[in-house]
Amino acid sequence: MKILVLNGPNLNMLGIREPGIYGRSTFADLLALIERTAKEENLDIEQYQSNHEGHLVDKIQWAYGKIDGIVINPAAYTHTSVAILDALKAVSIPAVEVHISDVDAREPFRQISYAGMACVHTIKGHGFEGYREAILYLKEHYGP
Ligand code: DQA
Repeated sequence: MKILVLNGPNLNMLGIREPGIYGRSTFADLLALIERTAKEENLDIEQYQSNHEGHLVDKIQWAYGKIDGIVINPAAYTHTSVAILDALKAVSIPAVEVHISDVDAREPFRQISYAGMACVHTIKGHGFEGYREAILYLKEHYGP
């Protein structure tokens, strides 16, 4: 099974950005956790991070016909991007939305998720572990 893990803007700053909210572990730590999960679960996982909305749209379109499941943390674009929502709908690949923090317990503007409207499941507030849970969810529900 091939899974694409997508991370949006400022997630490359994990470990530096707002450690009170996102913790002190780095983006490299997150990539390593996902790599470990791929090996343990015998999955083919590709990872991609971008600070640019259009690049994330391009990557979702690229996934069509190649990828069986998407894990996506669109970061700030969660709350603004109809383009990412439309891209997920266009490719119709099962997608799980992940947020490191509990967005429901934060500012009101974080409580709308456009991307989430095209996702089969959402995991919020479980830290980095949420990505592992999302991968396992896709494997269990959409794996061979
Ligand atoms: C985030 C939550 C978003 O509201 C925020 O803009 C992020 C990260 C999270 O993982 O908790 O950049 O998606």
